[in-house]
Amino acid sequence: MPATIIDGKAVAAAAIERVKAGSEAFRTANGLPPGLAVVLVGEDPASQVYVASKGRMAKECGFHSVQHTLAADTTQDELLALIATLNADPAVHGILVQLPLPGHLDERVTIGALDPAKDVDGLHDISIGRLASGQVDKTLVPCTPKGCMELLETVFPQGLSGLTAVVVGRSNLVGRPVAALLQHANATVTIAHSRTRDLPDLCRSADILVAAIGRPEFIKGDWVKPGATVIDVGINRIPAREKGEGKTRLVGDVEFSTAVDRAASITPVPGGVGPMTIAMLMANTLRAAEQSV
Ligand code: GUN
Repeated sequence: MPATIIDGKAVAAAAIERVKAGSEAFRTANGLPPGLAVVLVGEDPASQVYVASKGRMAKECGFHSVQHTLAADTTQDELLALIATLNADPAVHGILVQLPLPGHLDERVTIGALDPAKDVDGLHDISIGRLASGQVDKTLVPCTPKGCMELLETVFPQGLSGLTAVVVGRSNLVGRPVAALLQHANATVTIAHSRTRDLPDLCRSADILVAAIGRPEFIKGDWVKPGATVIDVGINRIPAREKGEGKTRLVGDVEFSTAVDRAASITPVPGGVGPMTIAMLMANTLRAAEQSV
């Protein structure tokens, strides 16, 4: 029997409805809405699309939404000066600096300049440290990992205790934080990466398989344990197979057509983890606002 398809769009829409209600309540109680500032440096087309949709969604949630678009040759000092201004702005509760930054700018220095209380991406060293030390309730959790966990909650409403999870990928944005969250939820977690030996066998041991390596359709169906839950974080654009599909199509890090026959539940690409990321950014902004008063 083919897997149940986990509907990320529906789960994200429900999360957004909760944020809208919380946003309205916050405004009523405090006389100002939650505020999100998004900073984009340069003209990377994919980043422009992401930033525009974050701004649109923030407005839909009733937030004060500002975007700062800086030239590609902005200096590190200029970027740090903008972050200092946003840190001090009481109308801004969340700050997101879109990554990747142009090569001459230092990502860790830039993220390190954020007020951790406004770090809605959860990428500041203090946020990472709180997550790593199990202080999940005291920190802002990175958006995509938080979205993965909300999707898993729909599959396992009774929790993840005792389940084995394999996370393929060890990025700061996804692999490492999602592994920390899975562990916090009492799953037994292995992080795999490009140097892992016998990756297919390791994947076949997983009740929960999280794919976050950024390689199109890398994980094949026969790497999936029958009855497993597959969370595919990959968003890869590849040439279309057939005429009528357009020039390119989006695929995940998992070969969906074969994995769907082995898994019990699986996220599609698009429409799985993707919509959750932006919904969790809104949830984090509301949380940052609520914690600021
Ligand atoms: N670029 C791709 N994904 C992300 C993200 O989640 N946050 C930021 N700041 N930049 C990104």
